[in-house]
Amino acid sequence: MCIPGVVPVVHAHANALLTGTGRTTAALADLRKPHEILGHPHVRHLIDFTEPVALLLVAVVHFIRDEENPTGIVRTLLDALPAGSYLVLSHATGDLRPAAAAQATEVYDTATSPLAVRGHPAIAAFFTGCDLVGPGLVQVPTWRPASKRPRGYRNVWIYGGVGRKK
Ligand SMILES: C[S@@+](CC[C@H](N)C(=O)[O-])C[C@H]1O[C@@H](n2cnc3c(N)ncnc32)[C@H](O)[C@@H]1O
Repeated sequence: MCIPGVVPVVHAHANALLTGTGRTTAALADLRKPHEILGHPHVRHLIDFTEPVALLLVAVVHFIRDEENPTGIVRTLLDALPAGSYLVLSHATGDLRPAAAAQATEVYDTATSPLAVRGHPAIAAFFTGCDLVGPGLVQVPTWRPASKRPRGYRNVWIYGGVGRKK
């Protein structure tokens, strides 16, 4: 997706490595077209949508601009999953380290996928229809850390959370 020509190569390698496992697959698709992901033959073949599913949108939704309807995209994917499914979502924010986020946003402005940092309320809204699992939507290293003070956590400007679909 980011560098034309590179992703198809990565996809080919992934499928070559995964061949034969029967439990994992890679589908070449654009998150901005969620219906294509849901209808992809590899996805339909592997995932039983009558059973709870874990949907992991890790550090990717911030590459979807507002005009590309990130809320609708996440909703479409969640709507396809039964109650009891989980959404894991992390997302860059300007709330925590505004200067760093602004600098990164500027760098990404020239990239294929510009960075859309969002505030806590906008990111929390992606979990609509889910109960947030404790401790909620928080700075990623502080989500159930192994130690009381995860090292370097103050430098992280990404929120993350886990929601259980109602
Ligand atoms: C920061 S990486 C995160 C990758 C992985 N989720 C992880 O946590 O290691 C962001 C990924 O999103 C992918 N990406 C960006 N926009 C996308 C889109 N519209 N559709 C699918 N993937 C996209 C990029 O190619 C990249 O692999």
